Amino acid sequence: MEGLQAKGIHPGLAVIIVGDDPASRVYVNNKKKACAEIGIYSEEHALPAETTEGELLSLIRTLNTRKEISGILCQLPLPKHICEETVLLAIDPKKDVDAFHPVNVGKIMIGDYDFLPCTPAGVMELIRESGIDPAGKECVVVGRSNIVGKPQAMLLLHAHGTVTICHSRTQNLAEVTRRADILVAAVGRANFITADMVKEGAVVIDVGMNRNAEGKLCGDVDFEGVKDKCAAITPVPGGVGPMTIAMLMKNTVRAAQL
Ligand code: GUN
Repeated sequence: MEGLQAKGIHPGLAVIIVGDDPASRVYVNNKKKACAEIGIYSEEHALPAETTEGELLSLIRTLNTRKEISGILCQLPLPKHICEETVLLAIDPKKDVDAFHPVNVGKIMIGDYDFLPCTPAGVMELIRESGIDPAGKECVVVGRSNIVGKPQAMLLLHAHGTVTICHSRTQNLAEVTRRADILVAAVGRANFITADMVKEGAVVIDVGMNRNAEGKLCGDVDFEGVKDKCAAITPVPGGVGPMTIAMLMKNTVRAAQL
């Protein structure tokens, strides 16, 4: 960070949280903690659940103009009376460290981007750092959200994978997932991916963040059932989650450079 500051680059992150969703609170705390650990200035804007869309948009417009704020992140989900699309559109694309603005989504599509969405980028970093090359491999993404599934598929495609996206209407799901050399689970249901759905020697990446019946944090994959069958697997917690935060820090520094 000193090296960046010597060059006049001072990253600053504004994190907005609306309402009191307990999971969002944990995520926001982790993001602020990471900033503090590496010396990035951060500020939290915690707004009550009754905040109007107009009030939130007004805050974003102010943050867009402030020089010491290089990155703006509005934690999702938002309360139902606020339109997420409108809010994400209000964030200056150059400060959009989540890469959720349609301009940034479009740039990712054509492979010419400033930011990548944090979770899919973290998954790609994990794959790369583990010495795995997706080129030519069967990559199956289970889940088609704008935050993870869709951009994840695009990044695997950029890395020359043969990519399939599965979702709730996919027929014969296990048949498709069993083809995967690289399987990314982003479903949001505990123990959704079981051993019979995984090919021997596959790489399994678990993006899920669920609570099981005992209230314990767990992913989408039946870790105990799958771990002896695959070549590599990420645990929950401690797998993709910390990578997401690391990519947010990277994007915040990048935003300050821009
Ligand atoms: N909610 C769940 N994941 C995310 C994320 O990566 N960014 C934001 N802003 N909200 C989220």
